[in-house]
Amino acid sequence: MEPMTVDEEWRRMAREHPVMRMTRNDKEVGMDYVNIPHVVAMVGLPARGKTYIAMKLARYLNWVGLPTKVFNVGDYRRQAIGDYQGHDFFHPRNRDGTNIRNKCALDALQDVCEFLQSGGMVAVYDATNTNMERRELIHLVVSQRMGYKLFFIESICNDPAIIETNIMECKVTNPDYTNMEKEHAVKDFLKRIEHYRTSYEALDEEKETQYSFMKIFDAGRRVVVHKQEGHIQSRIAYYLMNIHITPRSIYITRHGESVYNQLGRIGGDADLSHRGRQYANSLVKFISSQNITNLRVWTSCMKRTIQTASGINAPQERWKALNEIDAGICEGLTYEEIQEQYPEEFAARDQNKYSYRYPRGESYEDVVVRLESVIMELERQENVLVVGHQAVLRCVLAYFLDKTGVELPYLKVPLHTIIKLTPQAYGCKVEFFKVPIDCVDTHRSKPIVTRSDEGKEEDMQGASNEVDVIDGVHVNVLQGLVEGMSVGDNNPTDRQDDENCQL
Ligand code: ATP
Ligand code: F6P
Repeated sequence: MEPMTVDEEWRRMAREHPVMRMTRNDKEVGMDYVNIPHVVAMVGLPARGKTYIAMKLARYLNWVGLPTKVFNVGDYRRQAIGDYQGHDFFHPRNRDGTNIRNKCALDALQDVCEFLQSGGMVAVYDATNTNMERRELIHLVVSQRMGYKLFFIESICNDPAIIETNIMECKVTNPDYTNMEKEHAVKDFLKRIEHYRTSYEALDEEKETQYSFMKIFDAGRRVVVHKQEGHIQSRIAYYLMNIHITPRSIYITRHGESVYNQLGRIGGDADLSHRGRQYANSLVKFISSQNITNLRVWTSCMKRTIQTASGINAPQERWKALNEIDAGICEGLTYEEIQEQYPEEFAARDQNKYSYRYPRGESYEDVVVRLESVIMELERQENVLVVGHQAVLRCVLAYFLDKTGVELPYLKVPLHTIIKLTPQAYGCKVEFFKVPIDCVDTHRSKPIVTRSDEGKEEDMQGASNEVDVIDGVHVNVLQGLVEGMSVGDNNPTDRQDDENCQL
């Protein structure tokens, strides 16, 4: 008998794999049409930004409240074979290599379906999926058997400069190449791409017309969307049309200390305190010391952020969406007054701070919804400084740092601190710069619930302004920015006649 070809072996393996026996469970039979789980399947040659897109998309979808997970077939392969043995492993005639890769792809697809069966909303299937037969199998399992929506995203890039940067930035540093010299690793990776190219079939609008898909050419220079269905796909397509890969940084800071901060009152539209105005002056110096090209400054529509940014020499825009969380009937009160006057509300907020909505006010969840337009515009822009408020900036930070709804309302965003976010291949670098001008601490940590610990706070780091590490990241203290003043030297009461004040 003739031995099976590699393709025949793949078909047999697929037929016999447990993923082919998966069916909808009882819960899924009655799935409502609006909330059908989605599989987003990536398509493209290596180093085309598939993982970048997958991870960024997952971060966004989780942030807007759609539970999303990425399944990277490269991770399954590394798990299966351990040490990387070079580009030959990917040669189309390498029978063992091909079999291992095919098995990994099927295992990952099975995990994709299991994730959606257990409550996930979007699974991103991060593989090359570079031929029609593979895509047909995904369609068979995902759409026909499981009844999920399927959306392919193909990244096509023929710009050698982009490919070279991608290989240098992401591939020579990846676990496959830890023991290889850079130059050797680049050559090996280029050969790996060529192995894939021999069987690559781009998504075909005619032959694969029944699928919903999006093609992104040369990192977003051109985009084609085909047969997009429903609100999740339209959100995904819109988001991916807005992102770019030009290097840039986003600076975020709260306004300088306000008069209300000093009094421990929440909300309101107070002016800056004397110390807050000093911070505004230091911020001007910090920003000019950074030599940022084409900086844009965004503030909320509240006096304290406008005053904080007013000395900065850059185009400024006001966003109502950046206004602080609306505390409704609690606006203008201190936390102690809220506990006294509305004890049930106060306790309810501690129970589930993310979803709790102040009567006639907002929840963190509401703030995330109104910030979506800000995030979308931030994705389109290059260097931006956002001057905002504690709750609003927690939401912005959670988006960039991939924090959950449980973590989000307790993120530390201290006053008089600039946070610099620099997007990187699969995440974001974060740096903290603290200006040593005293200010009150407005962070309230989550209280511990056990009886013996009543009254204690979960994390005492938040109760001090002397933190030198936030969320595991070192805080740089900017000594040189405060003229003629050292820490603890400043006057806690407000003063209107500050000579340095540029406001
Ligand atoms: P592999 O198949 O080897 O896993 P990949 O296609 O997943 O490769 P990534 O690891 O995601 O490639 O490549 C990351 C790099 O791709 C980043 O440097 C990022 O700037 C860049 N990138 C992001 N989007 C695109 C795009 N649409 N086209 C080309 N490059 C992109
Ligand atoms: O205290 C300053 C402040 O910006 C208030 O205006 C706002 O209500 C509060 O922080 C948000 O923080 P938390 O959600 O922890 O109460």
